[in-house]
Amino acid sequence: MTQDELKQAVGRAAISYVVDGEIVGVGTGSTANCFIDALAAIKERIPGAVASSEATRQRLESHGITVFDLNEVETLSVYVDGADEINAAMQMIKGGGGALTREKIVAAVARQFVCIADASKLVPVLGHFPLPVEVIPMALGHVTRELTALGGQPVLRTGFVTDNGNRILDVRNLRIADAAALETRINQIVGVVTNGLFARRAADICLLGTADGVRTLTAS
Ligand code: A5P
Repeated sequence: MTQDELKQAVGRAAISYVVDGEIVGVGTGSTANCFIDALAAIKERIPGAVASSEATRQRLESHGITVFDLNEVETLSVYVDGADEINAAMQMIKGGGGALTREKIVAAVARQFVCIADASKLVPVLGHFPLPVEVIPMALGHVTRELTALGGQPVLRTGFVTDNGNRILDVRNLRIADAAALETRINQIVGVVTNGLFARRAADICLLGTADGVRTLTAS
């Protein structure tokens, strides 16, 4: 199977986690897009969705799926999203598409986080993928120096502005031995909106697309 076919398989598999009659939280990226396309086929069973980015909002609306503002809902039964990397503890690096902050907010409201990923995303240790950090523009210099002091090599993502009007630093060479501690440490830097470590709110399950079919993983 191609990588695209694996993404389509996990996008379809995640439909079984959608609760009839309830709004679903929807992530961002090529794998989340596969879930959105599968969701279109069952859209009559749900009131609609909360989107984690403007791109996801547009794709949902193009399928005729109602998009709710997150402030209109108190809780979501499930949030479905992809990842750039996921480890055996279900901790992730996200934000390759730059939507990390809204993704983290929607995930925080959801009772269950279902990560959908092709097999290439499962890693023994997080950090080969550069860690995205969303930064208030006026703080870019300060945050760059602070991240460098932590041992990372931050690089400004050129030509990219987030849905929140901010910039992204992609940080290479971070040693991520304790993902939850590093997530907290980076978020304490003044000017950081959030970073792409999803360790404090990890996924509850991962639907992993493999050549042998979709595997269901939980934290080990
Ligand atoms: C978007 O900001 C990201 O967090 C995506 O969820 C992540 O980059 C995975 O994207 P793909 O499914 O396109 O690999």
